[in-house]
This record gives sequence, C-alpha cells and structure tokens, in this order.
Amino acid sequence: TKKVAVLTSGGDAPGMNACIRAIVLACERANYAVVGYQHGYNGLINQEYCLLNNNQVHNLIQRGGTILQSARCHEFKTDAGAKKAAENLAELDIDTLIVIGGDGSFRGADHLGAFWSGQILGLPGTIDNDISGTDATIGFYTAIETAVSSIDKVRDTADAFERIFLVEVMGRHAGFLALRAALASSADYVILPELFDNPETTLNCITTQLNERRKQSDHISYIIVLAEKLWPGGIDNLAQALTDKTQSEVRPVILGHVQRGGSPVSEDRILATKLGAYAVSLVSKDITGVMLGEQEGKIVEVPFKMTWGKSKPLDQQLVTTMKTLMNERYA
Ligand code: F6P
Repeated sequence: TKKVAVLTSGGDAPGMNACIRAIVLACERANYAVVGYQHGYNGLINQEYCLLNNNQVHNLIQRGGTILQSARCHEFKTDAGAKKAAENLAELDIDTLIVIGGDGSFRGADHLGAFWSGQILGLPGTIDNDISGTDATIGFYTAIETAVSSIDKVRDTADAFERIFLVEVMGRHAGFLALRAALASSADYVILPELFDNPETTLNCITTQLNERRKQSDHISYIIVLAEKLWPGGIDNLAQALTDKTQSEVRPVILGHVQRGGSPVSEDRILATKLGAYAVSLVSKDITGVMLGEQEGKIVEVPFKMTWGKSKPLDQQLVTTMKTLMNERYA
C-alpha cells in the first residue's frame, strides 16, 4: 500500500483544512496511509509529523487556518535543508508528498525534487491568487468576502461622517484581491499594482474625481481601496498627501491578517475538496513535479516551474468594469 504525506506551507488560507480533509478521506478510501507534516517545510526537516485519519478531519471543513500549522522556511531553500527533508521522507517510506501552499512553496517543492525521487504534487493555497496556471487559489474567495464585509462596515461610518477612507487590502504584489474587493464593495477608487503609474498621477486622478463628485453632492463618502506594498512610504503617506490636497479628513484602515482567517466560503471548500481528492487519485500514476489547478472548471496539471514568475493577468473584463464605474476619464 502507498503512504502519502501532506503539509501546508507559506501564508495560511481558508480552505487549507478542507483540503487536508479531502486528502485524508480519499486516502482512506484507497487504503493509503496518511502522514501530516507540521509547520510547513520545517516539519519535513525536523521530522515533525502526525498520523492522520478520519477522526482528525471530522468537523474540519469549515475551520479557518490549518491544523498542520504553516511556516515560511528559509532552511529549505538550501541544499542541506532539502537533502535532510529527502532523507526524512525516505525514512518514513513516503511515496507521495502533497504540498498545499503558494508559489514559494512550489519553488521549495521543485527544489526538493532534485533530492528525492518520490512523487511531489502541489495544490494552490493562498489568499493572493497570484499563481499562474490556475484561475483561483484555495482561500481567495473567502478573503474577498472578508474584505468586502469589512469595507461595507467602513462605508457605514464613512457615510455618517462624509469622510474619505483609504482601505489597504492584502495580495502581496498582485491586485486580484484588491480589484474584486473594490468592485464588490462599490469602492470609489482602486489602486492596483498592475495599473499603478506614479503617485502624482494617481493623486490627481483621485482629487479630480472627488471634486467632480462634490459638484454633484456635498454629502458624499469616498472609499479608496489600496493594494498593499504599493504606495511609496505606505498608506499613511497617501492619507497625508490626500489630506493636503483635498483639505478633508482622510482615515486609513489596514485590513491586514483578518483577511487570512475565518471559515472558508463554499467556493473555497469545493475547490479544496476537488483538488485534494484529485491529488490522491494521482498517487499511483507516473506524474510528479506538478501543481494541480483549475482552469475554466477543469482540473489541470501545471509543472511547478510554470506556476511562478510569469505575471498572471487580471481579469480584463473586471478591470474595464471597474474603470467604467470609477469614470474612465479619471482612472
Ligand atoms: O501570501 C499571503 C499573504 O497574506 C500576503 O497577502 C501578504 O503580503 C503576506 O502573506 C503577509 O505575510 P506574513 O503573514 O508573513 O506577514
């Protein structure tokens, strides 16, 4: 019989537990043993693991975070770290390692492939959706919901005070989360890495648009969604620049790690379950070094090296829609 190991790595994402559950249940059906490595690749290097079965995954699908914990492991980037991991996998007689994580985790998985001849499969788990080869990642949809419901709340107080709010959302260097959160929360303006030109142009666009709006009505709130890591000097700098330019109160809000938590929405549970079960169906097949993703509803197998680096484009229809609603003249 086969022995499968699973780990979660990098930024945790809602739905990782749903994915672990699907892997464990599918392995049980196939009579495979399952080991869960804890703390991402650190667990692999330190041989820190637990046996997983039905009992551990009962009532788990709806829980945020990851029962296996996660980490960003620098030692694993070294040959010595990967070699140690390979020895540990051999010691436990593991046939297949399933890594749930983002592009950094897939780089790690690819690196491990140089030292270990077992099967390595990746499943995309990150709120950022910044992985090439898959339309969505596990956790992305939940993070959108969390950001949107938070921005709805900000809108209430913004309306009450007729204030300008700046809301920073996560996404690392990509604007997937920011764009969808902005659209679904009817944000007045969005600043995305993919479209960002320079601070001065952006400030001018915002103030021109704001002034136009104020001509129509004195009583408006105005919400700007800002993708993280983008504005020079950070969100406080932008808030100050806007205050100076508009002579209005501007309040910055950073949603931060709130976006990583919470019970996964059904899209994330379903994606996680589908990909987790499919990974197990590949266990006795001659395929390795791939991430399993989803494109237009179909599962695809994408070599690890194709998952990072190439910048994945934003949905152009959504960009156009957002620009139209922001009023293209100022976007
Ligand atoms: O990749 C997920 C993510 O939450 C990014 O959106 C964010 O930039 C980063 O991780 C934050 O990392 P950390 O939790 O290590 O601060």
